[in-house]
Amino acid sequence: MSSTRTPQSTVDIGATNMKRVPSTSLIGRDRHALDVVVDDVTYIVTKAKTKNEKIALLKNVSCAFVHGKVHALMGASGAGKTTLLDVMTTRVTAGEVLGNGVRFGGMPATKALFKTCAAYVEQFDTLLPMLTVQETLNYWAELRARTAEETTEILARVPQIINDLDLTTCKDVIVGDALNRGISGGQAKRTNVALALVTDPDVLFLDEPTSGLDSATSLGIVQMLKNLADSGVTVIATIHSPTSEAFRLFDSLVMLKSGQVAFAGPLNTAVPYLKSLGFAYDDSFNMADFLIATVASEDLDFVQTFKNDAAGQRNVENIKSVMSTKALPPPPQPKVTRGALSKIKTLLKYRTRYNYSNPDFVAARSAGNFLFGFVMMSLFWKIGKPTGEAQDQSTQLNVASLLSMLNILPSFQASGYMPSVVLERAMFYRELDDGVYPLVSYIAYKIIEEGILAIPVSLIAQMMLFLGCGIQGSFFYFWIINYGVMSCGIALAYVCAAAASTMDEANTLLPVYNVVQLLFSGIIIRVESMPKGWAWYRHTLFVRYGWMAQMRNHFKDAPAVFFNDAGEAVDVGDFYGVSNTLTENILAVFGLWLFWIGVAYFTMKYVRHQKR
Ligand SMILES: Nc1ncnc2c1ncn2[C@@H]1O[C@H](COP(=O)(O)OP(=O)(O)OP(=O)(O)O)[C@@H](O)[C@H]1O
Ligand SMILES: [Mg+2]
Repeated sequence: MSSTRTPQSTVDIGATNMKRVPSTSLIGRDRHALDVVVDDVTYIVTKAKTKNEKIALLKNVSCAFVHGKVHALMGASGAGKTTLLDVMTTRVTAGEVLGNGVRFGGMPATKALFKTCAAYVEQFDTLLPMLTVQETLNYWAELRARTAEETTEILARVPQIINDLDLTTCKDVIVGDALNRGISGGQAKRTNVALALVTDPDVLFLDEPTSGLDSATSLGIVQMLKNLADSGVTVIATIHSPTSEAFRLFDSLVMLKSGQVAFAGPLNTAVPYLKSLGFAYDDSFNMADFLIATVASEDLDFVQTFKNDAAGQRNVENIKSVMSTKALPPPPQPKVTRGALSKIKTLLKYRTRYNYSNPDFVAARSAGNFLFGFVMMSLFWKIGKPTGEAQDQSTQLNVASLLSMLNILPSFQASGYMPSVVLERAMFYRELDDGVYPLVSYIAYKIIEEGILAIPVSLIAQMMLFLGCGIQGSFFYFWIINYGVMSCGIALAYVCAAAASTMDEANTLLPVYNVVQLLFSGIIIRVESMPKGWAWYRHTLFVRYGWMAQMRNHFKDAPAVFFNDAGEAVDVGDFYGVSNTLTENILAVFGLWLFWIGVAYFTMKYVRHQKR
């Protein structure tokens, strides 16, 4: 137990960079007084290492958090604070919640209810690195708004929030990340708090909102939470080593020890309670440190003692009394008018604009195409011209190989589209959990974002190849087939990225599938020679349909200079077992594109790489 500050020392809040927030400044509407009750909750997970061994991360946790107050959730590291917040905010995905559950204003806590009345500032920041603070807030405001009127109303609140959280000086600075300098850690924390305030929640959960901040800034944040509570919000925050000044602003305290309640009650009763158990408090120590260190010690069975003590009985009474208060009807909900389409627009407006202004993003998606285009063009220069030796066997074989390579390349290159899905995952889960858009909006946004850039890139690269290699047939078909295969490749890349838990896994999955596609496309081993048991498989592969379409487009009237297994003279198409018309093959490519988008949708919906 140690203390660096004495209770006598004071932090002059006027001298800090945080403003005292007028208690009305964040009130956007009539509050819905929502008390939160945790009623005998146990949370069990299977241990990650020994799969069949179960452990309870929370055991019979009961506590109540009334509205209009700031509640502190404390305990040693690993005591279960974040776990309890995750359970209260319906964020847990890994284990089983037993007991009577959590209630908001008398209603069982569900994801839907959480979305409409609560917000959660998580322990780890998940922000978009390329947006400025102001844009981050506008982006979030637009995503969260359910109607056009709400968009205007929420956007109008943003400047006030920026001001209240003293983000004015950094509002035009980008968030940044480990590689690109942006706002400071404390500013990022405050931006996260600001995000939660955007929707003016009735219940606000915060996981360590002050960690990593200097004492003056922390005090400012807690002061702001206090003002929010004064306006009727239920504020529940986990907190580590707050200064005594900041700590005193809390109204009540729940202390956890190994996932169990070791104390719950008004803050000013905590020290007297421990004193009554024989733990003397020397007020030269930081009060929060004293409480945490004492409860973490093994000097007493704090959980059982609290249960049997009058303080524990008061906690039980308090929960009963909160539960017996008449539950309010759920907050009135606006008729949602902003659907999936409007959310796609918001995603494109903020994210695509910034991705496109990033040279790395654009280069990664175009340089490869041009480079390959150049190499292939010089290697196969004018090979496809329809006269003289272009008609002989050897040249036709070379052209068939060229068309096959051109066709498989976009599918291999689609690996470049996987990192965005894997790296954005934490952000994506948070946005999905907060219900700011339906999954279909996210997928459509990704496809549009990539598709828009893919059009000019493939047009230029294909034009180089069409002219340079002397490809015959229609340029439009030559291009649209390539674009179709590229789109299939991107959708397939999303499936791999969504199914894989890491980039390494994704990087293994995609090439494996693509090599199989190449093997079955009909160029490496001719259809006639494929074992019967395997021959059907080619019908499922977009790379094969793309190649057959390219063959149909280029070789219209090729002479029959090949011989099939029966010794009959056939043209190159028949030799390779090319089937279907040009149009049928193109339709098959786009049909498979829709299929893979569907698979990507279900993979993102049902495969969750988050265990909490
Ligand atoms: N899936 C899991 N399997 C096993 N143990 C887990 C699992 N998830 C969490 N834990 C453990 O549960 C305990 C509670 O974790 P939690 O993150 O809630 O702690 P905390 O009180 O928030 O700590 P901190 O103050 O360090 O953030 C920790 O001991 C952690 O190691
Ligand atoms: Mg934690």
